[in-house]
Amino acid sequence: MQEQAIVWRHAGDDIGLVPTMGALHAGHDSLITRARRENQRVVVSVFVNPKQFGPHEDFLKYPRPFDQDRARLEALGVDAIFNPPVDQIYPPAFKTRVDPGPLGEVLEGKSRPGHFGGVLTVVLKLLNLTQPKRAYFGQKDFQQVVLVRQLVRDLALPVRVVVVSTVREPDGLAMSSRNAYLDPAQRRLAPNVRQALTEAARAFTAGETEPAELERLTTDRLAVAPGVEIDYVAVVDETTLSRPQQASPGSVLAVAVKLGSIRLIDNVVLGAERL
Ligand code: PAF
Repeated sequence: MQEQAIVWRHAGDDIGLVPTMGALHAGHDSLITRARRENQRVVVSVFVNPKQFGPHEDFLKYPRPFDQDRARLEALGVDAIFNPPVDQIYPPAFKTRVDPGPLGEVLEGKSRPGHFGGVLTVVLKLLNLTQPKRAYFGQKDFQQVVLVRQLVRDLALPVRVVVVSTVREPDGLAMSSRNAYLDPAQRRLAPNVRQALTEAARAFTAGETEPAELERLTTDRLAVAPGVEIDYVAVVDETTLSRPQQASPGSVLAVAVKLGSIRLIDNVVLGAERL
């Protein structure tokens, strides 16, 4: 992969990388379509990264419909599908781990210790292997975006991070490979997450800037849907992830919930979306 990438770069082609864990959906399609528009070469990595799963998480049962993914990627006209085996990315002698620092320990990182260390370790390796000029990430994983940007800035990586809006089901549920785990009753409850975020974002647009009040509105709206267990609801600054004194346009309202054993995350950038 790296040799091919170097040949492309030497020929003057820009490479766009779309890192994925497979089980592709319309959200991935929009990352790939954007990458296709902006680069001569598009590489999609399909790699379920063991290092970003906790010991009690779903690494083993994470969906891996590779034949379906390959057909989808061929139809989208990507130049390379990079689907390495785990022991090629992490051979037995592999020891290095990227430490995301304090921003890796809040929100998702608090509920999933070690998750972002695993994400940044594999992202750095994928960037080195694929040599992209641009790398594409979805806004749904907003904290991941913040940490990848930090990685790129702190380590002076020669890549531009491009963030693409969340793609949603018609009822508002953010597309995610994990949605496939939802049973019909959970699937019916899941759109409450987006509705709660939308209502709080509307309150912001109408003048409510108290983080605690925006969080309370979200929490109260989620309480209407019994079976949706809140992990966190937080208004945060879009770069520092700290709680602002007052929410302002660009602040992010982020939510994680559990429906049974399935964890869903979503967020809204306050003042940025037409609701
Ligand atoms: O967002 C994902 O699918 C993963 O975290 C990523 C970026 C592919 C790293 O494994």
